Amino acid sequence: MKWILRALLVIVAVMVLVVFSQRINQPANIKISQIAKQMETVEPSLASDVISDEDLPPEGTRSLFDHFVAQHDGLAYPFDRLLAQIQANSPSSEAPKTVLIPHGRSLLKGQADEALPRIIAAADYEQDNNEASLGLKARGQLFLGFVERANEIEVISYNELAGRYEFQLVQNYCADCVPRIVYAQRAVCSTCHEGKAPIFPLRSWNETNAHESVAQSISDARGNSEPYFGVAIRQPLSAPERIDFLTDIANFVPVTQRLWIDTCGEPGIECRRLMLSLALQYVISPGSFREDTAEAEQLRVFQRQHMPAKGIAVASPDLINRDPLAEQQGLKGWWRKLTTRQIKLGEGATNNEDLSAFEKLPPLPSELDPLTKRPPIQIISAEDLSAVYGLAALFTLSDIKEISALSQFDMARVRHRVAQMPDDMFTPQAFVRVRMMNAFLGKDRAYCCLSTDEMSEPITSAEPPLQISQHMVLKEFERYCFACHRGNPSKRLNFMSGSDEGQVLETIRQTREIRDALDWARYQKTDRANKLMPPTDSVQYQRLQRDGEKGQEALKQMRDTVPSLFGF
Ligand code: HEC
Ligand code: HEC
Repeated sequence: MKWILRALLVIVAVMVLVVFSQRINQPANIKISQIAKQMETVEPSLASDVISDEDLPPEGTRSLFDHFVAQHDGLAYPFDRLLAQIQANSPSSEAPKTVLIPHGRSLLKGQADEALPRIIAAADYEQDNNEASLGLKARGQLFLGFVERANEIEVISYNELAGRYEFQLVQNYCADCVPRIVYAQRAVCSTCHEGKAPIFPLRSWNETNAHESVAQSISDARGNSEPYFGVAIRQPLSAPERIDFLTDIANFVPVTQRLWIDTCGEPGIECRRLMLSLALQYVISPGSFREDTAEAEQLRVFQRQHMPAKGIAVASPDLINRDPLAEQQGLKGWWRKLTTRQIKLGEGATNNEDLSAFEKLPPLPSELDPLTKRPPIQIISAEDLSAVYGLAALFTLSDIKEISALSQFDMARVRHRVAQMPDDMFTPQAFVRVRMMNAFLGKDRAYCCLSTDEMSEPITSAEPPLQISQHMVLKEFERYCFACHRGNPSKRLNFMSGSDEGQVLETIRQTREIRDALDWARYQKTDRANKLMPPTDSVQYQRLQRDGEKGQEALKQMRDTVPSLFGF
């Protein structure tokens, strides 16, 4: 009798657990393609008129990533070289913060596993200002997600002049391929990246290799403990913690732009002037900054007049922590294995355009799914001074030193300088740190990442790749040169661009330097050898070596395509 009761109890307990876990595992059944369509309607406001939401960056502006690539004469390959370049660009040789994620929740989740984990990298440095220019702020402004199996790098980086983050893809990023740097469909990316900015899981980041069990599984699957594209297999918890921090900072930048424009309305000159003045007072002396002064109250008065009545929502950059290993264990894991199909490597989207393949993957429980609309982390009201803190965060340490030196920590001086800045700094347009610094300091210094004069035209992911069927010599250029001279953000080095064969051939013919660059016989042992193409440290050069006779024939054919300079 007693054991029957006990058995009954156990059965009931199991049933309760099963029902419970079923509820937890309830798939969200949200379709990414549908959300992407709904997203196309942005809440109308002054800011949404001023800050573009088109896929391509506004005319005359570019992403930090494009500037970086153009200034490095093209995209580094393979990925560890790109990471090394970012590190070398930091004054203190600060490596980008990185983590490995074998089983994540990104659009390319089906393409990563323990053997080929996704790499997330975030730049974490600022350069100092000098007499000629303001230092680069890369911290919180440059993020990469690389999935080797998808041959794709996802890029989120800041566009200083446009006041928004750009979403880009490097497609075809592989050894025998011609990579393409394209602007992605913002509507697709922002289904998960709700704030049009980076996102990241919350503590304790169980998807990442900062957990020994994850690191061990990667090392087991790879058969060694060597770094993967320069990224250590084992990372301290401080790595994801820092990336989480950087994504949080980044997420607040578009919010700050919106606050700058929308809480002061049009023309709002004195309101924005006051906002900047308070922000600068805060940066030079955060400890003595008070929110109950007459000035702060004046800003609130302005804000109450213009701020939308329901406030301004801060989209959440935070995903609930997910523990893919624990999901496999215990009763819940057993149930999950029975009821949900496991993702096999290579399933789902192979690139960011392939939404229907992504939709066929087994869905995540809705509370863990990045596609589930997250509640805002905060609603900013007219009583908040968030705009002030947001603006303060846009300056670098070097900026702050200069502002402090100039004002000698005297708030009256700060107010005075800001009062003297021209009105057109305060019209409703994107807040550009570099312009503000120049106007405040009365200087006219350059910034690495503003001018697009030396840059080629940006393209979207919808642009079709080049088809070669008539001019077969283009196949040789494709094999040995396109990777660096087609779609290069540097205009000077983009001399194999063009949307059809005829155009590409014509541009090549007009680039007379190609003849010399291919004249290996003549320049190989001279001081011009480093001008020979492809560069000796490239995969294309190795390919040329491997190709032997055929490679030499290709070099000749390519040279003959470009007419020589007579009468030189
Ligand atoms: C289905 C949801 C989803 C979509 C759609 C998506 N991402 Fe992400 N993305 C994530 C998640 C989750 C992370 C953070 C954790 C990870 O990578 O696993 C992430 C991280 C990133 C990162 C690293 C920086 C960061 O935010 O943590 C970049 C760069 C990135 N995504 C770019 C893109 C681009 C570009 C697009 C559009 C083509 C896109 N993503 C679309 C889910 C998505
Ligand atoms: C791995 C990348 C890479 C590949 C592949 C490559 N190049 Fe280059 N190329 C460069 C870089 C970087 C420069 C700029 C070097 C400099 O300015 O010193 C350059 C410069 C040139 C220049 C000089 C342009 C100028 O304005 O001075 C020519 C011409 C050229 N490449 C032709 C070619 C040809 C033809 C091929 C194919 C056979 C090729 N390159 C393959 C990276 C590459």
